[in-house]
Amino acid sequence: MARRRRLERSERVIVSELDADGVGLADAGGLRLRVRGGLPGEDATVKVLRRRRNRLETQAEVIGHPHADRVAPPCPWTAHCGGCVLQHLATAAQREAKRGRLATLLEEQGVAQPLVWLPDVLGPSTGYRHKARLGVRQVPGRQVMVGFREPASSRVADVEACRILAPAVGERLAELKALVATLTIAGAIPQLEVACGEADFAIILRHLQPLGEGDEERLIRFAKVSAGQIYLQSAGPDSVVRLWPEEGVERLHYTLPNFGLRFAFHPLDFVQVNPAINRKMVALALDLLAPRPKDSVLDLFCGIGNFTLPLATLAAAVHGIEGSEGLVQRARENLATNRTVLGDCRVTFAAADLYADGFDVGELPKADLLLLDPPRSGAERIARGIAGMSPRRVVYVSCHPGTLARDARLLAEGGYVLTAAGILDMFPHTAHVESIAVFEPRS
Ligand SMILES: C[S@@+](CC[C@H](N)C(=O)[O-])C[C@H]1O[C@@H](n2cnc3c(N)ncnc32)[C@H](O)[C@@H]1O
Repeated sequence: MARRRRLERSERVIVSELDADGVGLADAGGLRLRVRGGLPGEDATVKVLRRRRNRLETQAEVIGHPHADRVAPPCPWTAHCGGCVLQHLATAAQREAKRGRLATLLEEQGVAQPLVWLPDVLGPSTGYRHKARLGVRQVPGRQVMVGFREPASSRVADVEACRILAPAVGERLAELKALVATLTIAGAIPQLEVACGEADFAIILRHLQPLGEGDEERLIRFAKVSAGQIYLQSAGPDSVVRLWPEEGVERLHYTLPNFGLRFAFHPLDFVQVNPAINRKMVALALDLLAPRPKDSVLDLFCGIGNFTLPLATLAAAVHGIEGSEGLVQRARENLATNRTVLGDCRVTFAAADLYADGFDVGELPKADLLLLDPPRSGAERIARGIAGMSPRRVVYVSCHPGTLARDARLLAEGGYVLTAAGILDMFPHTAHVESIAVFEPRS
């Protein structure tokens, strides 16, 4: 049997394409390589990061013939941090690649391309990310690290700041590292979550041992100086308690000024990570759905009411359904605090598992219009049952182009045509694709 060729420690390869994770692909004499930092058409000298069974994970070190859209990454740590994979590609080209990916996936599902490609929805490309889970690691004899993982590794990257996170936390990573290093249980903190509102932020510290002497005081001092909230998590999500401030509700806030709405959320709640894009996305979704004053709207996977309440400013009745009881409770709180700007609209929320085996699409309330914003697994059941629901229009907001394309096929089988689609720059520099699509009954 012929022996498989081994790649030298450092070798030149030609990158053929980007994979779905935004990583370059190359073939070196029958060896399959993933080339981080490589772009299609480039020849790259690569360093092996990891050998996997059917491929090598490598990092491009020297680029021979740079891609026309190669740019200097905005973050100096990008080569050591796996948080973003596309910083070396101009943001316009990132979006083009994402649009191309959606178009290809639709084609693979046999779905006709949209009648209209909407203009890309643009926002800031740095400082945009308002939620993240960061790794924490104390290396014996060295300082504590706080950040995303290294490329192709579970090790926490050694960075001083993060240009992608909202500055309230991204510019505080060095302070957070110093803070954790002062704690008696620094080695028992595997991660911290960060969540930002518009003018407030929270840090949720996961700890595997009880806090030691003086730890609470150190954390509270940090919270007071940084004006952030500090939460402690000793076990699962239900164990989260707020350490500071002692008074007031456990909430962060964001606004949708176009609609005069203010939302409150718990730091562990789902909210859209990029508030600038969220504002534009909500406005676009409503423009595309175009509710009339007498319309009823069904908002599935509604979270804390991010689309439901803006819809309520235009329609006669809106019903939001969401799987998490906690998020439904927050949606109702937000309904109550924003009631005065919602006019006479009838707004209701219900908790239901829209993926449950026993869930029957036929039991959903009838509505003129349907808004879908599912998690990555998509809305297969709803798409299969669309003919029975027969809304006048469907607007589908998606964070996974593969499931959107699958559901577009199911909607087409149910008699709905993809009339418009576009991508939103929700996650610049990463491979995540946020898109929006409009479906209308075939005439
Ligand atoms: C992409 S988020 C959208 C949330 C909301 N539309 C927003 O803009 O903030 C998807 C939502 O689906 C909810 N979800 C996840 N699994 C679910 C299920 N099985 N049934 C119903 N909702 C579910 C999540 O809790 C989350 O709120």
